[in-house]
Order: sequence, then C-alpha cells, then structure tokens
Amino acid sequence: MSAKAFLKKYLISPLSIGSVVPSSKHVGMAFAKNIDLSKDGVILEIGAGTGTITKSLIDCGIPRNRIVCLEIEEAFCDLLRKRFNGVEVICSDILNLRELVHKIGKINCFVSTLPFISLGKDQTDKILNILKPFVDSGTTYLQMSYSPFFVGKSRKRGLQTKRCGYVWKNFPPAYIYKSI
Ligand SMILES: C[S@@+](CC[C@H](N)C(=O)[O-])C[C@H]1O[C@@H](n2cnc3c(N)ncnc32)[C@H](O)[C@@H]1O
Repeated sequence: MSAKAFLKKYLISPLSIGSVVPSSKHVGMAFAKNIDLSKDGVILEIGAGTGTITKSLIDCGIPRNRIVCLEIEEAFCDLLRKRFNGVEVICSDILNLRELVHKIGKINCFVSTLPFISLGKDQTDKILNILKPFVDSGTTYLQMSYSPFFVGKSRKRGLQTKRCGYVWKNFPPAYIYKSI
C-alpha cells in the first residue's frame, strides 16, 4: 500500500519525490544510531513521504512525541497522520522552516531524505541555507543521499559535514551524512 502510494506520487512529481520506491527501514536505523536523545528537542523528519523512516525511528525507540514529520505533499501528510498516532505532521515546504519554528519548538536533529540530486543545485542551495543557522546553533543534521559527493557540496555551503554510514540494504544503496 505504501509503495503503491509512493509510486503513484512519483509519476506525478518525479523531481520532488526523487525515488521510485520508499527507503528501507535500514536507512531509518542508521539515522537512529546518530540521534542523541539526551539532547533536548524534537527530531524533525524532512520529506517523510509514506513514513518508512518514521516507522523505523519509532521501532528504534524514538518516542512518538519527539518526532515531527514535515512533508510537502498533502496526500502523504494524510497517510502519515493515519499511520502514526501521536506523531505531529506538518504539511509544508522546508523552505518555510523559519516561520514554522515557533510551532515545532526546539529541534534536536534534522533527519532528511530530500532528493537533492533531482531537486537540483538552486533548490539544494536554498534548503541548505535554511538549515545552516540551525546547525550552527546546535541542531544535528542527518542526510541520506545516493551521491558519494555530498560532503563536498555541503562543505562548499559552509556546513561541517562528514559521512557517518553506508546502507547496503536500500535500493539504491545510500550514504548517511552528518553535519554538526
Ligand atoms: C526521496 S522521498 C523520501 C520519502 C521517505 N522519507 C522515504 O525515505 O521513503 C522525498 C520526500 O521529500 C518530499 N519533499 C520534496 N521536497 C520537499 C520540500 N521542499 N519540503 C518538504 N518535503 C519535500 C517529497 O514529497 C518526498 O515525500
């Protein structure tokens, strides 16, 4: 059901969805290993899609009330609300983050599967510019990418980024990057 909803949306908005299938639970597990729950604040999942990562984070022990899903597609937001009682779902563009922050509260960590390869350079620049001040003030930023070159791209935009994982069990296999 999830994969079908995902594929349907991909056919309508291939660039913003960026993948024909949802990520595997192993990507969520790799994210969870890099989340420090002893720090205050919520985990903001950017581009939650049909919720594979959300479910994996919950299964790894992240409390539902510490997860906020941000997703641009209304249909995915409806699905996320049905699937995850107790998880806050915000239907918006990440570019609105500054206006949303009063609603979200303190952010411990960004967990992102945003498809920068298909979103393109301008959109990537805009999004990283929005995230950077939060990272500079202590929010951890975790990004999944199929690209081995994300460290360079992200450092060019002033973020201190390193590779912190590689997930074979995903289609296609993916890197996990961390900026602190
Ligand atoms: C590659 S999919 C990942 C979905 C899911 N997290 C997964 O791993 O299967 C990227 C998701 O980001 C969402 N998205 C794309 N651009 C966005 C934006 N500017 N703000 C918020 N969400 C966005 C898409 O609608 C899509 O659900």
